[in-house]
Amino acid sequence: MKHQFPKDFWWGAAASGPQTEGRLPNDSKGASIWDHWYQTNPEKFFQGQGPNRTTQVITHFQEDLNSMEEIGFNSFRTSIQWSRLMPEGRGAVDQAAVAFYHRYFDEMLARGIEPFVNLYHFDMPMALQNEGGWLNRETVTAFAEYAQVCFDLFGDKVNHWFTQNEPIVPVEMGYLYQQHYPAVVDLAQAVQVGYHEALASALAIQKFRRSGCKGTIGIILNLTPTYPKDPQNPADQSAAVIADAFFNRSFLDPAVKGTFPKELVEIVDDLGIRPVTTAEDLAVIRNNTVDLLGVNYYQPRRVQQKHSPKQAMQPMPEDYFDAYDWPDKKINPYRGWEIYEKGIYDTLINLRDNYNNIPCFISENGMGVEDEERFKNEEGVIEDAYRIQFVKDHLAYVHQAIQEGAHCLGYHMWAATDNWSWLNAFKNRYGFISIDLDTQKRTIKRSGYWFKEVIRENGFDA
Ligand code: BG6
Repeated sequence: MKHQFPKDFWWGAAASGPQTEGRLPNDSKGASIWDHWYQTNPEKFFQGQGPNRTTQVITHFQEDLNSMEEIGFNSFRTSIQWSRLMPEGRGAVDQAAVAFYHRYFDEMLARGIEPFVNLYHFDMPMALQNEGGWLNRETVTAFAEYAQVCFDLFGDKVNHWFTQNEPIVPVEMGYLYQQHYPAVVDLAQAVQVGYHEALASALAIQKFRRSGCKGTIGIILNLTPTYPKDPQNPADQSAAVIADAFFNRSFLDPAVKGTFPKELVEIVDDLGIRPVTTAEDLAVIRNNTVDLLGVNYYQPRRVQQKHSPKQAMQPMPEDYFDAYDWPDKKINPYRGWEIYEKGIYDTLINLRDNYNNIPCFISENGMGVEDEERFKNEEGVIEDAYRIQFVKDHLAYVHQAIQEGAHCLGYHMWAATDNWSWLNAFKNRYGFISIDLDTQKRTIKRSGYWFKEVIRENGFDA
């Protein structure tokens, strides 16, 4: 049986500015929170590798794009680094950055690769972080101004814009679980940060619409379908509803419906931590929902009713549910994430049924594997059969969801090339294209050749 995908399906992969661009000595880029954190705490980064030396796309983008062209991508997502374009986060625009992004997008277009451009991938400019970052309402205004600058500069080249990638991540990792700067633990701050991110996205969408830009604007969310331990048990079920409200609907609802989930509003009211807002700002959120939704899918979340004693002194999302460790789960041992292919189908069906079947696409899905060098053949090609299997198994479910009416327009893998990954740096490799970090040589992996066939056929044999 052949899994045939709809005509004009988007095939490609994703990356982000901070994970690929790298720095040049004495370049004019401003510091982001990552540059700052690396300077103050290099020991936090795997093998001490920081964001200044990534895959050096700033000088090697042509090689990356050549490989993507060879595979046959018709689209590719990356992000503009706010701190590269506007080193202080607001005000002056750096002309070297403008020239770089123009060239980068031009070279994509010249190869028939549609640039999908995201504006924020966890990379707050340090100058704004020093004023409170997302805790500060002024940052929301600065973000909307930065978005406007991007639309004005690159609007004629870019058809698909995204305001943010995974806005829940700066909330969880920066303000609850200490994996991103500023690494504080404070639910009240986390709520304010999340609210400001949602508002910033809506304000950028308002700017986009008012400036009459062509194309679409959306957001990219990491949706983790949430399963109760026992679906028949009402207490497990409500635990799943709350976890879903915290980690999915917190951004999905405002982005697509312009509202916040009532379960979450009740919790923050109960705790007395409702974010500071105005009626005018709430109207901006209500009236500026997305055209297109990017869905990053890696793993599900499994929960059960709260049995365990409260761990932290302060309020935490985990006060409302316990994690459930499903004994039958399959795991990617390198990243420690569960692999559950059907989750991608459940997510698309949820969007079909509960989110007005909003146009969407899989904007990330993938598998990070350590030490892939061991799978290199005599020609230097990495034989990553596990990645082919992973993508195939997920694509089969995407195909099924489309057959059942889901409005899914494409599939992007994480990532195009191996790239630098936050605290894990280069520990796990994700790309269709491997990179030798010493020589910066790019080589397509077996999965990349397999994907080439899938793109050529617009499908694959199941
Ligand atoms: C996504 C992010 O959550 O997952 C990427 O958008 C990230 O930035 C990717 O790199 C894989 O996760 P990690 O932590 O293994 O790099």
